[in-house]
Amino acid sequence: MLKIEKLHAGYGGPDVLHDIALHVEAGETVTLLGANTAGKSTLLRSISGLVPKVRGTIDFNGQSLLGRAAHAIPQTGIAHVPEGRHVFPLMSVYDNLVMGAYTLRKKGPVEAKIEAVFALFPRLRERRTQAAGSMSGGEQQMVAIGRALMLEPKLLLLDEPSHGLAPIVVDELHAALLRINATGVSVLLVEQNASLALSIATRGYVLESGRLVLEGSADDLRSNDAVRRAYLGL
Ligand SMILES: Nc1ncnc2c1ncn2[C@@H]1O[C@H](COP(=O)(O)OP(=O)(O)O)[C@@H](O)[C@H]1O
Ligand SMILES: [Mg+2]
Repeated sequence: MLKIEKLHAGYGGPDVLHDIALHVEAGETVTLLGANTAGKSTLLRSISGLVPKVRGTIDFNGQSLLGRAAHAIPQTGIAHVPEGRHVFPLMSVYDNLVMGAYTLRKKGPVEAKIEAVFALFPRLRERRTQAAGSMSGGEQQMVAIGRALMLEPKLLLLDEPSHGLAPIVVDELHAALLRINATGVSVLLVEQNASLALSIATRGYVLESGRLVLEGSADDLRSNDAVRRAYLGL
């Protein structure tokens, strides 16, 4: 579904990503692990057309994404939830979700999409009239993910969704991500919380200083000594 090959990317100075090869098949949840500044966000942003200097191959369902403007990416079936959530703080939960469908060329009924998001996140239905900025970090993350799902993506790019969340909220997020994947949405999940990521994903990659150094099934990565030491604290 998503095929990245020989990808090099940067912001104008030295490349941040070097010779990346990564793929996500339909229906998969794949994780990308790595320490702070490894280049994880840059990889997601490269897919979304947000990195100025990109060369190599990024194909999605047979079409090349390379060189496409960021605003043209959602139409291809990819939704990106950036680091730090960025909900519209003064708008209600409901209006945040409506905004999610705004960039869709083919609009269709918004209500049905909102119902689908509320089915995944019942808490958002309860809080539909509340200003998004007044909600807890975990709830705001649900709003941000729900807003991305309004695009009815085939592939969801998630950048550190567990960052800054209390453990009990991380458990809720875990359950929600499994439910999303069960609806047929593929997920590329960037995390520093490797135990969370490897409990959701079936496969994963490890990025160090802009290079992929490991890839394998979640089980393989979980039992890999280097991963255990560096990312699982074992
Ligand atoms: N907008 C930017 N302009 C220049 N350099 C950037 C920009 N964003 C990130 N970088 C650099 O790219 C490297 C990787 O950053 P990033 O992709 O954010 O890593 P991660 O998400 O793994 O923490 C870092 O050295 C960072 O300083
Ligand atoms: Mg990042």
